[in-house]
Amino acid sequence: MAFPTQRMRRIRGNASLRGLVRETHLRPDDFIYPMFITAGEDVRREIKSMPNVFQLSINHAVAEAKRVHELGIPGVLLFGIPDAKDEAATGAYDPEGVVQLAVRAIKDAVPELLVITDVCLCEYTQNGHCGIVDGRSGEVLNDVSLELIARTATSHAEAGADIVAPSDMMDGRVAAIRADLDSEGFENTPVMSYSVKYASAFYGPFREAAESAPAFGDRRSHQMDPANVREALKENALDLEEGADMVIVKPALPYLDVVRRVAESSDVPVAAYNVSGEYSMIKAAARNGWINEKAAVLEAMTGIKRAGADIIISYHAPDVAAWIS
Ligand code: PBG
Repeated sequence: MAFPTQRMRRIRGNASLRGLVRETHLRPDDFIYPMFITAGEDVRREIKSMPNVFQLSINHAVAEAKRVHELGIPGVLLFGIPDAKDEAATGAYDPEGVVQLAVRAIKDAVPELLVITDVCLCEYTQNGHCGIVDGRSGEVLNDVSLELIARTATSHAEAGADIVAPSDMMDGRVAAIRADLDSEGFENTPVMSYSVKYASAFYGPFREAAESAPAFGDRRSHQMDPANVREALKENALDLEEGADMVIVKPALPYLDVVRRVAESSDVPVAAYNVSGEYSMIKAAARNGWINEKAAVLEAMTGIKRAGADIIISYHAPDVAAWIS
C-alpha cells in the first residue's frame, strides 16, 4: 500500500515522467513581443529601466522583427514614439506616422509575422493622457477622443496592421473602432482589446520607454482599482458585446485570479500582458545576483499560462523562445 506522497515522489523523481504528466507547456507561439518604435534614424537606445529592451528606429525594428520571427514568435505589438507631440495627437493617425511607417516596413520584410498595433493617444499628446484633454477642466473628453482613436486604428489597418489593440480605455472604443474599420473595408481586421486594465504601478518603466508619463493627474478615472474583480468581468463583458475578437488582462502576475476568471467567462482568446514593471523586477534582481533569471522567468510565464492565458504579451518573449526551443 503506497502512501500518496510516495506515489507523487515516484513520478517527480523521473524527468521523462515529469514531462509526460506536465499540465502546462510553454511554446514560442504563446507569445507576443512588444516593441518601441522611435521616429529617429538609426537609433537603438536601451531603456534604462528595462535592460535589453530598446527604442528602435524602423531599420532596427525590422531587424528585430526578423529575429523574433526566426525564434518562432508569431507576433509583435508596436508602440510609437513620435518626434513631435501636440494637443490633437495628430501623430497617432498620421498615415506617415512612426507606427504606420514601421508597420509597412515590417510587413514588407517579414510578411508572416503578425503585426499588432497599440492604439492610444498617450504617446502623441504633450500631456501624456490617453485621450484629448479639456483645456479648462483637465478632464479627458471621451467622445472626442473616441473619434480620433477610431481614426488611429483604421490608419494602422491601412498601413497593413494585422490586429489593432486599443489600450486607451475610453467608453465605447471597441464599437467605434469596429464601425470605422468596417466602413473602410477592414471587416477582417480583428480588435484585440485591453478590456481589463488596472491602474498599476507596474507601468512605470513603460512610461519611460514610451515617453508617455502623464504630465499631470493620473489614469485612475479610466483604469481600474486593483482591489476589484467584478468590475473587470463587467468591463470585459462590455468589450465582448461591442465586438472584441480577443481580450487582454493587464498587468499579469499580480492579477492571475483575474486572468483565470476572465478566461472562464470569455468565449474569445485571452491574452495576459506581463508589463514593464514585472519585467524590470526580474531583470533587476537577476543583475544583482539575487535570482536565477531563466528559472524565474520560466516559472512566471508558466504561472500566467496555468492561470488560463491563451497568449502572453511579454518583453521576455525572445529569451523564453530561445530557452525552450
Ligand atoms: C497605454 C499603455 C500603457 C501600457 C501599454 N499601453 C501604459 C499606461 O497605461 O500607462 C503599459 C505596458 C507596460 O507597462 O509594459 N498606451
